[in-house]
Amino acid sequence: GCDKEKLRVVFMENGIDAVIHFAGFKAVGESVAKPLKYYRNNLDSTITLLEVMNEFGVKKIVFSSSATVYGDPEELPIKETAKLGVTNPYGATKLFIENILKDVYISDNDYSIAILRYFNPIGAHESGLLGEDPSDIPNNLMPYIVKVATGELPHLNIFGNDYDTKDGTGVRDYIHVVDLAIGHISALEYIDKNKGIDYYNLGTGHGYSVMEIVSAFSEVNHVDVPYEIAPRRDGDIAECYADTTYAKEKLHWEATHDLTDMVESAYNFVVKNNE
Ligand code: WQD
Repeated sequence: GCDKEKLRVVFMENGIDAVIHFAGFKAVGESVAKPLKYYRNNLDSTITLLEVMNEFGVKKIVFSSSATVYGDPEELPIKETAKLGVTNPYGATKLFIENILKDVYISDNDYSIAILRYFNPIGAHESGLLGEDPSDIPNNLMPYIVKVATGELPHLNIFGNDYDTKDGTGVRDYIHVVDLAIGHISALEYIDKNKGIDYYNLGTGHGYSVMEIVSAFSEVNHVDVPYEIAPRRDGDIAECYADTTYAKEKLHWEATHDLTDMVESAYNFVVKNNE
């Protein structure tokens, strides 16, 4: 996305009405080790995209942001008006881009901008044709659990069970990736009719602990997920889940898939693709 000339050709050859901007590096740990890689890629591609959009008069954009911009929340559930604070370069790029979009809107109120703050996307399309199965060792919980369930990895390391949460393990708002996709369509429909800039939590409003995810995955898929308790991971927060009322009110969107759908589809995708 940093190649401006190639991007201009895309806009010249296609009648672009609106853009959904997903592109960016997203591994928190890697961003701490390689900050310049993250700043160059995530910011450069965004500025290039916005310059080309501006040149072609395209002023509708949906941006993939992250709940990570809230840092360690002061109150739960988290509202879009909560204090922002980032604890790693990946999160910083998301917050920088949110601010770039705000300044672009201030410079030209003709823009229609939806900033979607994803909570923890997991699961796969029920067809088993679309999903995630990283080739390297996953950073995130769900793809790691899947690799333990298929025997590719020996056991899950649970990063700390001494947090001040329901069972001591980290609590997150896991959202089915199909619900997330539908949220983008709802945002696109909204910005097609309304100018302005706004922020929306895309979550379920419910927090599950690591232990609850492991138990559900094992029970639903009838598969063992051996685990060991390991030390806390740097930068991790105890608990995070969304207040989802704003997205429901303004985008008429809410997540509908439950935990069973999420853990079943995540496993089904890999099993189907290893047949
Ligand atoms: C979830 C929970 C871990 C792995 C990050 C980014 C966020 C978004 C999603 C990009 C935590 C625990 C995990 C493991 C574990 N990324 N865990 N063992 O950290 O909430 O969010 O990924 O968009 O921006 O911040 O997700 O899946 O890494 O961790 O115990 O092997 O599972 O401690 O409580 P996280 P995660």
